[in-house]
Amino acid sequence: MRILLGITGGIAAYKAANLIRAFGELGHEVEVVPTQNALRFVGLPTLESLSGNKIDIDMYHDVSEVRHVELGTQADLIVIAPATASFMARLAAGIADDLLLNAILASNAPIVICPAMHTGMWLNAATQQNVETLSSRGIRVMPPAAGRLTGKDSGAGRLPETQDILEFIFKEQRLSGKSVTVTAGGTREPIDAVRFIGNASSGQMGVALATAALDQGASVTLIACNLEIPTPKGVTVVEAGTVVELQVAMDRKTDVLIMAAAVSDFRVAEPHAGKLSRSAGMTLKLVPTEDLVAGFAKKYPETLTIGFALSESAGEELIEVAREKLRLKGICVVIGNSLSALNSSETQVQYVTQKESTYFHGPKRLVAQSIITKISEAL
Ligand SMILES: Cc1cc2nc3c(=O)[nH]c(=O)nc-3n(C[C@H](O)[C@H](O)[C@H](O)COP(=O)(O)O)c2cc1C
Repeated sequence: MRILLGITGGIAAYKAANLIRAFGELGHEVEVVPTQNALRFVGLPTLESLSGNKIDIDMYHDVSEVRHVELGTQADLIVIAPATASFMARLAAGIADDLLLNAILASNAPIVICPAMHTGMWLNAATQQNVETLSSRGIRVMPPAAGRLTGKDSGAGRLPETQDILEFIFKEQRLSGKSVTVTAGGTREPIDAVRFIGNASSGQMGVALATAALDQGASVTLIACNLEIPTPKGVTVVEAGTVVELQVAMDRKTDVLIMAAAVSDFRVAEPHAGKLSRSAGMTLKLVPTEDLVAGFAKKYPETLTIGFALSESAGEELIEVAREKLRLKGICVVIGNSLSALNSSETQVQYVTQKESTYFHGPKRLVAQSIITKISEAL
């Protein structure tokens, strides 16, 4: 995977050199972005030679390449080690005043932060509140180790050993060795050569689920139905425009299928080959499409198949709608969500099985992480 390693200006910045080497040995590509102050503690030649990449932290160089956006969007994982108190405060407040912070704000990648500082700074209420804010946004903050500090005193605040940082970053990969297929977006059924019957699904939830599964070490296939948003690096993308194309793309063995795409219930019986003109008038004959998720569950009973139910109901009523869908389709989990989730970055869902239901709400990225955790528990 492509790791963006941010290094900030603390005494432990020199230890990041070990981390660059370790990431490389594990087969990852490392893009190092130090802050201006980090370069007071560790030299560019060290960082460039170990990472094998040229480093230029001036955001206003090569402006035409918009490097901060490129760095952020191309990263599969962002690690900040060491992270200063100042850096965490700026990130918590969204202050994008250097290349590193701009790249982070532009990114959708999961973030791991390894704070290191004097015990007093670590325990300071401002720092602790910033840690809480960052954690509440889904950023993983590794607690610093305790021991001898820079001066003569000791306490919590040391950057943990490289091996411990690696374990923290990678150990929670609950889906390692598992294949996860996610469908995302909305199908389009042609009326003629230029028109179609579509829906308002943006695919954000499917992409967030694919990203969360990837973060947990799964091998992820994203079946993209007319997606107009970027897909995460590291997933295999298969394009499918219509219900039939989606059915073909889904016909595969997988440990988990998450059916997040909005699939048309109808298709036009006989789409027109050319472009229909206004003067011709038009009566469309629609025929029902196949129930893809039910068909899949029947063909691949060993797969943990997860469907979605979009409904105007909420609370207990939504749970009932989801349970009914569980029974009808013969699948293991139905995620009930409300119409307000369409085309929004926030959602509220009921994760429903025969035995239980769990409510999640918030940004789709965080809800997706919670759903993936539930799925990994169910496997
Ligand atoms: C010798 C020295 C050591 C420092 N060590 C740390 C440290 O370990 N952690 C920390 O949060 N700040 C430390 N600082 C303060 C940061 O360098 C300072 O807050 C700086 O503005 C951080 O910049 P940055 O976050 O943009 O890299 C240290 C400063 C000095 C002079």
